[in-house]
Amino acid sequence: MSPIRGPLLLLARSGRVKRLVSTMPVSAGIVHGYVPGEDTPAAVQATAGLVDDGLRVTLDYLGEDVTDRAQADATVEAYLDLLRELSLRGLTRHAEVSVKLSAIGQAIPDAGAAKVAIENARTICRAARNAGTTVTLDMEDHTTTDRTLAALRELRQDFPETGAVLQAMLHRTEADCRTLAHEGSRVRLCKGAYAEPAEVAFTDKVDIDKSYVRCLKVLLAGQGYPMIATHDPRMIDIASSLASRYGRAQGTYEFQMLYGIRPDEQKRLAEDGESVRTYVPYGVEWYGYLMRRLAERPANLAFFARSLVSK
Ligand code: FDA
Repeated sequence: MSPIRGPLLLLARSGRVKRLVSTMPVSAGIVHGYVPGEDTPAAVQATAGLVDDGLRVTLDYLGEDVTDRAQADATVEAYLDLLRELSLRGLTRHAEVSVKLSAIGQAIPDAGAAKVAIENARTICRAARNAGTTVTLDMEDHTTTDRTLAALRELRQDFPETGAVLQAMLHRTEADCRTLAHEGSRVRLCKGAYAEPAEVAFTDKVDIDKSYVRCLKVLLAGQGYPMIATHDPRMIDIASSLASRYGRAQGTYEFQMLYGIRPDEQKRLAEDGESVRTYVPYGVEWYGYLMRRLAERPANLAFFARSLVSK
């Protein structure tokens, strides 16, 4: 793994650096490559374009580690507005939403935070169901995994269509995949984007990839709907072979990639008959998201530095 990954992931959590660079509009430089816009109209327009290309979409209203109630409520409103517009444009057959619990209350420093987050998630799940679509809970750093899976269990009592993300880099994830590989379950498997300690996570790329393959086997052999979230050509090939080995027809699982990353591969897989979903983040709170993408692709740092200078 790149030696610069750790420092960049630390910067992703730095309030000071965030304030320094966040005045840059989404339309500037490298940000625009990963985030199509700041508001609902921009998100809906990007969705319509991707759907025209034969792709499905999941939308993330950017924001995380929100510590005040008003901002958490504003995030819920943004999702409700988005779902209304997607529905009006007839896009909810192809587009769902992804939600970070820390954006809607889980990070409020208060004993009732988990309850606030679940109530807010429930409001978004209800709106999504009314619009004919679903919600997937994003997964944040390992300190939040238990709380996120507990929230998933609670939400699934009323909204069994709710999905969740598991991160192959965590030691626990193969076991979590077994627990969640049941009928009706939707699991998005990714490698994991956070800086995690060696006590809980694989830190070597080879070990993370091996874990990803073990988790793929569990999910593809299981009864749920696996969502294979990776840009890694090797993981994509292995997933396709495993899908055949376990008798999975196309459409009983899907590939997922991030907006702006390997767009040609996204279209190629869709043209080959695979279900492919693009994760579209939008909003002004792009800082943490962008830093995690740069940590995965330090080659883009020079472009980022240049867009800051030309601000
Ligand atoms: P890896 O990082 O090993 O990259 C493999 C190859 O992909 C590279 O060699 C390169 O070709 C290409 N590539 C990767 N990143 C690139 C970039 N930035 N620019 C250009 N090319 C690039 N994480 C998390 O912790 N919680 C979550 O909820 C989610 N949610 C999520 C949803 C979806 C749909 C996706 C695709 C990913 C996530 N992630 C996530 C992020 C995930 O954990 C991981 O950090 C990234 O997907 C990068 O890992 P890869 O599997 O792509 O492999």
